Amino acid sequence: MSALPNHASADRLAPDPRSQERVSVFRAHWALDPDLVFVNHGSYGATPRAVLEAQDRFRARMERDPVRFFKVDLERLMDGVRERIAAFVGCDAAGLAPVQNATVAICSVFANIDWKPGDEVLVTDHEYGSGLNELARLSARRGIRVVTARVPFPVSGPDAVVDAVMACVTPRTRLAMISHITSATALVFPVERLTPALQGRGVDVLVDGTHTPGQRPIDLASLGAAYFCGSFHKWVSAPKGTGFLYVRPDRRAGFRTVALSSRANKERPERALFLRDFDYMGTDDYTGRLAIPAALDFVGGLLPGGWPAVMRHNHDLAVRGRDAVCGAAGLSPGGPDAMHGCMATLVIPEAPAGRPTLYDDPLQDALYERHRVVAPVWRFDPTGARVVRLSAMLYNTLTDFERLGEALRVELARERRG
Ligand SMILES: Cc1ncc(COP(=O)(O)O)c(C=O)c1O
Repeated sequence: MSALPNHASADRLAPDPRSQERVSVFRAHWALDPDLVFVNHGSYGATPRAVLEAQDRFRARMERDPVRFFKVDLERLMDGVRERIAAFVGCDAAGLAPVQNATVAICSVFANIDWKPGDEVLVTDHEYGSGLNELARLSARRGIRVVTARVPFPVSGPDAVVDAVMACVTPRTRLAMISHITSATALVFPVERLTPALQGRGVDVLVDGTHTPGQRPIDLASLGAAYFCGSFHKWVSAPKGTGFLYVRPDRRAGFRTVALSSRANKERPERALFLRDFDYMGTDDYTGRLAIPAALDFVGGLLPGGWPAVMRHNHDLAVRGRDAVCGAAGLSPGGPDAMHGCMATLVIPEAPAGRPTLYDDPLQDALYERHRVVAPVWRFDPTGARVVRLSAMLYNTLTDFERLGEALRVELARERRG
């Protein structure tokens, strides 16, 4: 375990986002390069050393006796993980499938629906690419139709989302896939309003909550969505490759993994097929999933108020950080504060075309190479707007966002000069 301070000393260390603290006292818990201004937790997360150490202990156990680990221990260990995840997201553990990532979780839902040609899947134009790509494949193979609700960006408020989505429901709508927190635009969508409204019209909802755990509180039982997928490697800071799928009890019977393992045909009357399938999906390194409880404990233990305090802290910092960037670089917010979790996306001016990039936009290269700032710069495809996204995590301070703002000011001016 790391000898760095956790909540025992956090009263003294509690990071007030208003303070001018240049480096977060929590930064040293993470293995991030100290030379980087890392304001992109949203893409892949970042894992504290203590959590990686917990994963290492599971890995050592696996390698001491792989047969015992996979044949005997894994199932019991996975049940413990399910209990912890269930308590964190408010659902029954029997419907929880810990999987590699949200991409697999989303694909699993699509693979378990008996599609008929002409069935419609309703999405918004803020959805993440992996689910949309899978739907495009289904559309070609099974004749389903993808119907896209256009949600303006920047957005005025949650009503704009509800109105856009509900206007696209037809008698053929079979499923709606709606992000809780959108990826490119970093907006919290009102899934608590949309889910009952859609399901009340006979449309099952798959909530893409990839960014939800650790960024916003959630209670899946009261949300009532047919399906919910999430990620732990992002905002809970668990090791990479830690996602989950929740399937509501009335959609669970016959719900199977996309690839059936060698154990799928075994008679096990004492254990539900849903659990057995997802306990073991073929040989893999399951130790990241087993370390999810360590991440919940460690990161949630960094502030005296636990996870609610961590989420509040990161939200406040994201909003203040966004304001600092807007002020420095002359940009405007993408939505009201209440529609932000711990990230914010800002529209930036167009650039001269033709410059090379290792990412999606040469500005991201410039931020990294000239300022050591890690922030994603993309196009929001539906409108073609060029955007930059920032993320706030315990290891950040307001200074990080001031540096992002200054770097953007300098680089956008350089772009204007050509
Ligand atoms: C909203 C959303 N859904 C799904 C995904 C896919 O997550 P993963 O790469 O962990 O499968 C992402 C990834 O960033 C995302 O932002």
